[in-house]
Amino acid sequence: MTGKFLWFEGIPFPSVDYSPELLREVQESFLIKDEDVLLLTFPKSGVILKEEQREKRRQKEKKNDTRRPSFGTNWLIETVCLIYSKGDPKWVQSEPIWDRSPWVETKHGYELLKEKEGPRLISSHLPIQLFPKSFFKSKAKVIYLVRNPRDVFVSGYFFWKSAKFVKRPQSLEQYFEWFIQGNMPFGSWFDHIRGWMSMRDKENFLVLSYEEMKWDTRSTVEKICQFLGKKLEPEELNSVLKNNSFQVMKENNMSNFSLLKGQYLEENGLLLRKGVTGDWKNYFTVAQAEIFDKLFQEKMADLPQELFAWE
Ligand code: A3P
Repeated sequence: MTGKFLWFEGIPFPSVDYSPELLREVQESFLIKDEDVLLLTFPKSGVILKEEQREKRRQKEKKNDTRRPSFGTNWLIETVCLIYSKGDPKWVQSEPIWDRSPWVETKHGYELLKEKEGPRLISSHLPIQLFPKSFFKSKAKVIYLVRNPRDVFVSGYFFWKSAKFVKRPQSLEQYFEWFIQGNMPFGSWFDHIRGWMSMRDKENFLVLSYEEMKWDTRSTVEKICQFLGKKLEPEELNSVLKNNSFQVMKENNMSNFSLLKGQYLEENGLLLRKGVTGDWKNYFTVAQAEIFDKLFQEKMADLPQELFAWE
């Protein structure tokens, strides 16, 4: 297992379970069907704010943190699987998360998806320019999940540094440079978001944020149900909410990545690390926060700020 990146079209990918040939084949030949549901994110899925706005936000986040349990990619996948099973946890407790909604860009996921009959759940971290071309002529529904990039940064740092299938960051400072330059797994967060946000007005495209999911999980799950045309009874919805909680998911070996320890992850590698919003404040220096704010402003100012719930 090598600690390096596979570079494809200027983007760093994990070096295990990915290949340039497959990435090209996925883009050119993989057939997305109208009935498929696509769960898209930048892995581990921020703006200049004046100090008083920052303080207001801190207060708001603090309040919310104490009221509600704590979405990353896998949280979204787990939630959608639970919606499909009407809150019954049997499926999520018996099949690994990467088989329930396979990653189209990986060798393992691609093979599984080619064989799957009927409507499929498909996960992907691909940037829009590398996504299967067939999708753009399909009616497949997409849920695109965003998260405050500052928290994406912190979550990613701790995860990638325990991963054996990517070039590992040696320090937060180094990873900050990688993040700013987009030299990290799946490339630039800013480019990923900008690319996919170009689809945001399509009716088959739902944008959600980790923050809204955390601050009001019930309403967000209801929004997903409505988008997917799934109707749940109140007790089924309650069971989705119980089983997609941070604690329950953390204990579910089919979802918490413990099966990857050894070959893919170090023993201390954790998918479900803290599951909170705003953890970046414990790690950013004042200088880093300012650099980040400026960059966010430069890159994202022309997008509607309501897309970014954390603001
Ligand atoms: P932290 O590292 O901040 O804890 P991904 O699934 O895209 O790899 O994202 C992982 C992040 O999502 C981790 O964030 C993890 O804790 C968070 N996450 C996963 N499941 C969650 C859940 N049920 N509730 C809240 N956060 C969750």
